[in-house]
Amino acid sequence: METENKEIQAPERRKRIFSGVQPSGTITLGNYIGAIRNWVNLQEEYDCAFAMMDMHSITVRQTPAELRKRTLELLALYIACGIDPEKCILFIQSHNSAHAELAWVLNCYTYMGELQRMTQFKDKSARHADNINAGLFTYPVLMAADILLYQADCVPVGKDQMQHIEICRDIANRFNALYGNVFTIPEGLLVKSGAKIMSLQEPTKKMSKSDPNPKGFISMMDDFNVIAKKIKSAVTDSEGIIEYRPEDDSKAGINNLLSIMAVMTDSNPEKVAEGFEGQGYGAFKSAVAEAVVEGIRPIREEYDRIIKDKAYLQDIYRNGAEQAHRIADRTLKKVYKKVGFVVE
Ligand code: TYM
Repeated sequence: METENKEIQAPERRKRIFSGVQPSGTITLGNYIGAIRNWVNLQEEYDCAFAMMDMHSITVRQTPAELRKRTLELLALYIACGIDPEKCILFIQSHNSAHAELAWVLNCYTYMGELQRMTQFKDKSARHADNINAGLFTYPVLMAADILLYQADCVPVGKDQMQHIEICRDIANRFNALYGNVFTIPEGLLVKSGAKIMSLQEPTKKMSKSDPNPKGFISMMDDFNVIAKKIKSAVTDSEGIIEYRPEDDSKAGINNLLSIMAVMTDSNPEKVAEGFEGQGYGAFKSAVAEAVVEGIRPIREEYDRIIKDKAYLQDIYRNGAEQAHRIADRTLKKVYKKVGFVVE
């Protein structure tokens, strides 16, 4: 049969997204609002890959059995939050060896000085002074590899990860300047409201799963009564006025609750504040507690169902690893060729 010599127009590539969460502790409301919730909206428009970042977790000592368990729980939580495994690639980072391989190459294109400036490194090395390992130091390089392997256009993360996206862009630009267009330069993508959910006890600090005071954070796995109690005992101020003043640190507690309420009710903090004008903090906190509990309830119901089905979860992460490998290997091969390795 004669083949027509007509140029076939390649369909325009959908933009790619990569992101992930470390399974190194309980997943917080901050992780949900700043990251996972946003992914759910993005999966319709983009080709998405989301991973459980277990290799990042071991930069801090983990109990092996717990890490294994939490990795699967995180997968179940992604799905329960609305990430559709039919639309997205869901995989476990350590199942794709390309991450470690590209990280090694990129280590040779990253400067000590750049890594020394990373706030997360400074924070974590202060908190784990007895274990300032090289992995903790080169963590942003592995994160750059995660992103660049998939030629991601956008990386939806919370504000605390933006510095890591910046260094990823610097490394990618440096590599491209030497070898041509190897990597897509990714952009960080922040949610409008809630890119930095603050601690309920110290509202000028980020809500974090590693907070030694469990009252400071809400775990997606907390009992509903516990969630309500934590919100009702959130630190606020003595002014007694419900107003959104993001630049005013003395309002940090109220600003934070307003942001949380805004996200959980698909509104914005200013509007929420208007709705509570003239009311006391007690009534406001009760309303926030109810909105958070009602927002988490359906996720938890889904989660309880999914976590029991180990075969289903296994199917998803195996299938995900296969798809992840396919994309990542293409990038890795290109990189190996460029740097001068003998590629078969
Ligand atoms: P991790 O596991 O600390 O957090 C996962 C995601 O949740 C966001 N986040 C928050 N957002 C708003 N308010 C908060 N209080 C809050 N706390 C956490 C984080 O910004 C993040 O988006 N290094 C990453 C994991 C990672 C990664 C990647 C992410 C590894 N490789 C590649 C994107 C792309 C981390 O430790 O996130």
